[in-house]
Amino acid sequence: MAFTIAIDGPAAAGKGTVSKAVAAHFGFAHLDTGLLYRAVGAKVLAGVEPVEAAKSLLAQDLERNDLRAPEVAQAASKVAALGEVRAALVDFQRAFARRSGGAVLDGRDIGTVICPDAEAKIFVTASAEVRAERRYLEDVSKGHETSREAVLADVKERDARDMERAEAPLKPAADAVVIDTSTLSIEEAIAQAIAAIEARHKA
Ligand code: DC
Repeated sequence: MAFTIAIDGPAAAGKGTVSKAVAAHFGFAHLDTGLLYRAVGAKVLAGVEPVEAAKSLLAQDLERNDLRAPEVAQAASKVAALGEVRAALVDFQRAFARRSGGAVLDGRDIGTVICPDAEAKIFVTASAEVRAERRYLEDVSKGHETSREAVLADVKERDARDMERAEAPLKPAADAVVIDTSTLSIEEAIAQAIAAIEARHKA
């Protein structure tokens, strides 16, 4: 049985945490599609041409341990605006989405472009200030030197680029359930997502 759950939203809204918990709850496989763009971004920072980097992406490229670095996130957001880069990554994502046993994909355009027919769609969001504060605390706990102002500027810059690009801009699908996590705990956000998927599944 194939069953696709699309989870989209801006950086640091809690998408990754919600997606992992939803996948574990339903026993589905999970793909963080941001890692594909981050892996392409990391190759570009190493001097590879963006489209070539996307076309030659290998599974092992997703295991690099520098993919969470802020400069890689910015590079990912830049390569993600290129139509040819996005096109090179479509087939892999669609095949993953339709694997038997069910799949959760999280990203920016899963419900709108990659899997418009997904059985369930969730859009996880939160205010830029709340997202920046969460990312700041995460960065500090990992020992990265940064400031609240720098993290907020980074979040806003990526939001603007991801939402304003011509190719597959970040926006909720018309039939997505929107969950604003600004005032929710992680447990509440996960519970709302699972309830929304179960409601959709029964409908
Ligand atoms: O989710 P993330 O922060 O790891 O994503 C990194 C960048 O990749 C993000 O700024 C936009 C881009 N991205 C995208 O354009 N489409 C996706 N499905 C996932 C990520």
